[in-house]
Amino acid sequence: MAALAAEGMTPDDHLLDIGCGALRLGHLAVPYLRPGHYWGTDASLALMRHGRAVELPDPDRLPLSHLVEDADFAFPGVPDSITMAIAWGVFTHVPTGAMECALDAVATRLPRLRRFLFSVFLAPDACFDGPFRQTDGVVTHPDRAPRHIRQAELLLLCDKAGLKVRQSPGRLPRGQTLWVASPPQMP
Ligand SMILES: C[S@@+](CC[C@H](N)C(=O)[O-])C[C@H]1O[C@@H](n2cnc3c(N)ncnc32)[C@H](O)[C@@H]1O
Repeated sequence: MAALAAEGMTPDDHLLDIGCGALRLGHLAVPYLRPGHYWGTDASLALMRHGRAVELPDPDRLPLSHLVEDADFAFPGVPDSITMAIAWGVFTHVPTGAMECALDAVATRLPRLRRFLFSVFLAPDACFDGPFRQTDGVVTHPDRAPRHIRQAELLLLCDKAGLKVRQSPGRLPRGQTLWVASPPQMP
């Protein structure tokens, strides 16, 4: 919530929480946003539904139809109204090709998007091919979760998708880095 607020999110925004899991963000974002302004996607519908039932102070504030099972980052049924999107701890769990699909979908499927926040683990070139110990001790891998990526590749993927991107200066849990992408026309 703090990262989204720092990027200017207000209750009027329409948020897409990609890979939202059991609504760790949703349990704060759903009460904060105007009713109907939160959408979540995840590979597991059961996980999202469990989060809705157990984590939300008022589950009726989040229509079941706003939790979309989607393992392909295709965002089926997600409306054009989305203005903010986030993928927190998601690209750390999927291959680079899937991250590329997600960035492409964010750029093409969400015409009103202002900001897309996402976290990744980085690894320097010299250490990329094997296990790499992040600053707080988490070990990441090039080919299985938790995954790391080269910064140069991340920048290339965003560029290919037509998104501007910058790294947010704050530190994230477990040594992840936070990135803020936006369509080129957005300030
Ligand atoms: C580490 S959890 C993070 C969940 C949530 N964003 C959070 O911060 O608590 C990773 C999430 O990514 C989801 N996930 C993994 N692969 C996915 C895919 N291909 N498409 C959508 N979600 C996926 C998992 O089901 C899981 O909920």
